[in-house]
This record gives sequence, C-alpha cells and structure tokens, in this order.
Amino acid sequence: MEKINITAIVGSLRKDSFNRQLAGEAGKILQELAKSKATSGMKLNIDFELLDYSDIPLFNQDIEHPAPEPVRRTRDIIKKADGLWFFTPEYNHFFPGVLKNLIDWLSRPISDTEPHVLGQKAAAVSGITPGISATLMAQDHLITLLSFLNVRIMNLPRLFIPNAMQQTDKAGTDEAGRLSLSTSRPFLEKQAETFVDFIRKA
Ligand code: FNR
Repeated sequence: MEKINITAIVGSLRKDSFNRQLAGEAGKILQELAKSKATSGMKLNIDFELLDYSDIPLFNQDIEHPAPEPVRRTRDIIKKADGLWFFTPEYNHFFPGVLKNLIDWLSRPISDTEPHVLGQKAAAVSGITPGISATLMAQDHLITLLSFLNVRIMNLPRLFIPNAMQQTDKAGTDEAGRLSLSTSRPFLEKQAETFVDFIRKA
C-alpha cells in the first residue's frame, strides 16, 4: 500500500479560523480521494495532519540551541511529511507574522551537519478571506519565501477564496457561521487531487 503524509499548516491561530476550517475540508476531501482511488484498484493511504504550532516561541537566536521542545517536535513532523499544504489568511496584504515566525524557525539548519527541514518539500498554497482580496498578495509573499527556502511549490492550481461569509451556513446574515464551501468545493477538490499527483511524482 502506498502511503503519503500531508501536513496542513494554517497561518491563523484563531479557533474558528476560516483557513483552519478550509484545511479541515481539505483533509476530508483527501480521505474521499484515497477511497475513490481504492475503488479503481489503487491502494493509497493518505495521512493528513493539522500542525499545531501555537506553542512555538518567538524566534530569537539566543534560544536557538538547543532548540526548544515545540520546535523539535514540529521539525520531526515536517521531516516526516511528503507534502506541506499551507492555508493562509491575509493580514495587511501579507501572510500573518505567526506563520513567518514558524518558517523562520524551520528555515534554520538543525546542526552543522543537518540542513533545515524544508528543502525540496512539496508544497501547495490556499487561502480564504471574508474580504475581496482572496489572499492573493499574502500567497505571493509566502511563495517568494518558500522558493527562497528551496521548497518545491505547486504553482497551479492555487486556491484563492474571497467573500468567505457567503460560503457559510449563515450566508446572508452578519454572523460568521461554519464554512460550507458552496461554490469553492470543486476547486479545493481539484487542488487536492493535483497535489497528491504532484507529491507522488517527486
Ligand atoms: C485582516 N484581514 C484582512 N483581510 C484581507 O482580505 N486582506 C487584508 O489585508 C487583511 N488584513 C488584516 C489584518 C489584520 C491584522 C487582521 C486581524 C485581519 C481580515 C482577515 O482576512 C480575517 O480576519 C480572516 O477571517 C482571518 O483569517 P482566519 O483567522 O479566519 O483564518
């Protein structure tokens, strides 16, 4: 049985984050995809893990060695991942500082003989916002950073979702609601399927 590990990295620590919900939907879609491959005779197991990095400290070279426990734990998870799927909000036309902090930690070599854990990892990028900017600029900045770190980015398709409130179970009201992804689901499905192929072609 072929097995792939995908780690979801959400650029928001907010409990009800739209991007966290989007990642959750992607996880469900990946499980459905593995099942549909099984019906066509292909045995594929997809492990999907949502990374919890809320306890990673602010990067400071004074505490870099030995790496704090949350950093070591996170590096181990990233090392095992075949693919990283980023789900990022946009803050002031950029991706959030918490995500930059995480990537700064991950960008550091582990030791003189062990390089950083991001090199040549396959990555996909998606984002959702209640606004109209659709996270386009945040994603562009994120991709610039990931390219610099030699991450293997899937440039197409990327997923940009504006007007998040219109795709919740409370659409048409002022309440936030749960994400239903009425119009965007097929695009998320397409991205999931393409990402699995992209990882397997490594
Ligand atoms: C925002 N928001 C926002 N939205 C956007 O589309 N473009 C932007 O530049 C910004 N800027 C911004 C800055 C800061 C500091 C905050 C807190 C928010 C709104 C943002 O998209 C909204 O809060 C999302 O719901 C955040 O994503 P999660 O937490 O729902 O995943």
